[in-house]
Amino acid sequence: MKIGIIGAGNVGGNLGTVLAANGHEVLFGVRDPQSDKTRALLDAAGPKARAGSAQDAAAFGDVLAVALRWDVLPEVLGQLGDLDGKVVIDCTNRFSTPPGGSTNSSEDIARMLPGTKVVRAFNTIGAEHYGAPMFGGERASMFIAGDDAQAKAVVGRLAEEMGFEVVDAGPLASAIALESLTRAWVGLSQQLGRDIAFKLLRR
Ligand SMILES: NC(=O)c1ccc[n+]([C@@H]2O[C@H](COP(=O)([O-])OP(=O)(O)OC[C@H]3O[C@@H](n4cnc5c(N)ncnc54)[C@H](OP(=O)(O)O)[C@@H]3O)[C@@H](O)[C@H]2O)c1
Repeated sequence: MKIGIIGAGNVGGNLGTVLAANGHEVLFGVRDPQSDKTRALLDAAGPKARAGSAQDAAAFGDVLAVALRWDVLPEVLGQLGDLDGKVVIDCTNRFSTPPGGSTNSSEDIARMLPGTKVVRAFNTIGAEHYGAPMFGGERASMFIAGDDAQAKAVVGRLAEEMGFEVVDAGPLASAIALESLTRAWVGLSQQLGRDIAFKLLRR
């Protein structure tokens, strides 16, 4: 698939590197495509990855991953142009409600990107684990939420290729619950270290 990634820090860099290793075409949308940091990322990500502006990445991807911190997100997303029909992966976490925002940050992103199909994913685990989802012989769960079944299937396949066990947590309204799960992960990681992941058990 053609995947644009807006932001190439911990989340965007790790996600794009794993997706490129899995054979997808990745375009990182960054502020400076020529920076040493971007060059080092492209070296690590290999021949399937390249870099351009955020607008380039948005235009390129059939799937677009948002991997920005919230302080810059409204401004950057506001400049991306028409994204009608694209699948947008919301990888972000927002731990407080800004003025004018709702309690559901993924629904806020959906409002900022009208016509897109937003799926929340890759938020409930440290980004350094995207390429290593096995924990002591167990596959970590990847919780996803969204309103469009086809978009969720696309994102679920990407996460499964990465080696995660995908758990459909329901509609985008469930993003609030997933953000709580992230808070739990962050709190636990401060006591136990970051080599931890959630797994849903069933019987
Ligand atoms: N870290 C984790 O383990 C983790 C896991 C799950 C979810 N999250 C969430 O994912 C989001 C990103 O986190 P992160 O850890 O990847 O943050 P990060 O390492 O700080 O990366 C943020 C990226 O955004 C870029 N950026 C900043 N301003 C920009 C602008 N105006 N235009 C384009 N790009 C811009 C930065 O570029 P520069 O390098 O040029 O500054 C950087 O590449 C956050 O919402 C976080 O809560 C984080």
